[in-house]
Amino acid sequence: MKKIISGIQPSGRPSLGNYLGAIKPQVSMQNEADVTYFIADLHAITVRQEPADLKRRTFEVAAWYLACGLNPEKATLFIQSHVPAHAQLGWILNTFTQMGELERMTQYKDKSKRHSSNINVGLFGYPVLQAADILLHDIDAVPVGEDQKQHIEITRDIATRFNNHYTAGKEGAKPIFVVPEAMLPKAGARVRDLQNPESKMSKSIDGKGTIFMEEDLKTIAKKIKSAVTDSGSEVIYDKENKAGVSNLLEIYAVTKGMSIENAVSDFNGKGYGDFKSAVADAVVAELEPTQARFKELMKDKTELSMILKKGADKANIQAERTLAKVMKKVGFVPPIV
Ligand code: TRP
Repeated sequence: MKKIISGIQPSGRPSLGNYLGAIKPQVSMQNEADVTYFIADLHAITVRQEPADLKRRTFEVAAWYLACGLNPEKATLFIQSHVPAHAQLGWILNTFTQMGELERMTQYKDKSKRHSSNINVGLFGYPVLQAADILLHDIDAVPVGEDQKQHIEITRDIATRFNNHYTAGKEGAKPIFVVPEAMLPKAGARVRDLQNPESKMSKSIDGKGTIFMEEDLKTIAKKIKSAVTDSGSEVIYDKENKAGVSNLLEIYAVTKGMSIENAVSDFNGKGYGDFKSAVADAVVAELEPTQARFKELMKDKTELSMILKKGADKANIQAERTLAKVMKKVGFVPPIV
């Protein structure tokens, strides 16, 4: 099975857009690949965080993934700071990364504009830590969007440089790192704002057009029922001329795990009213057990903490194995165990 990994920023309060667009497809990847997901708290502190918020959001993100069906027996889920090898390998890889390479990173350039009063060394070195995240776990492929492609490229460059440095001219020397590929993430829905389907459903706008995963189910149903639809009365999929209806169709189809064509045929001859009620019912039916599980996990953190500990235990075994090989190659004196 292919090994894949993804780091998730603990940025809390996921919307229906995050769920249908990212979380749900990421969770279903556990059936096709050997998946590792971790909450990237070390990365999060490259911009200033309120400690209590960071802590709560770290738990929340983990709880949402589990509530959405991530199976800790199949997938590995852990908190990045619970696996110290990430930071340790990051340090070593710093010495295999050039200033000039990092200066070219577009995310760094963007973020240093947005956080101009705190352009810290961690923000600059962010991609090196990301490379360590990936390389420790012998990853074949990293599902990433456009914005992260550059970080996978630099990971490949660092891995290749390290491998070459320690194998060049050495007969039979095996490369340490698997050089990972970037892969297109599994497609999810591109959920649009319910009131303004021209733009995507954001989580920063707390309005009638956004649905948050933890919102009261009645409010969610009401928001869907008052979504803007388009002129005409037929339920058809036409993103250009019927952006509102098409958005609801996509929400319905991905929620129910069906194709758009089948979703459309469910509403043959039906009006917008019935259509919107059906979409609301589908979303509520999906979120009801998810919310219940989320609340249960958040109420008493014992189970959640145990799951995260088991994930970290698994990840630590793999990460320490790679780190030990790296340290040996570099020439560090191994500690006596
Ligand atoms: N940089 C990624 C993001 O902002 C998060 C991340 C950290 C990550 N480490 C990773 C993603 C390793 C994939 C693999 O979304």
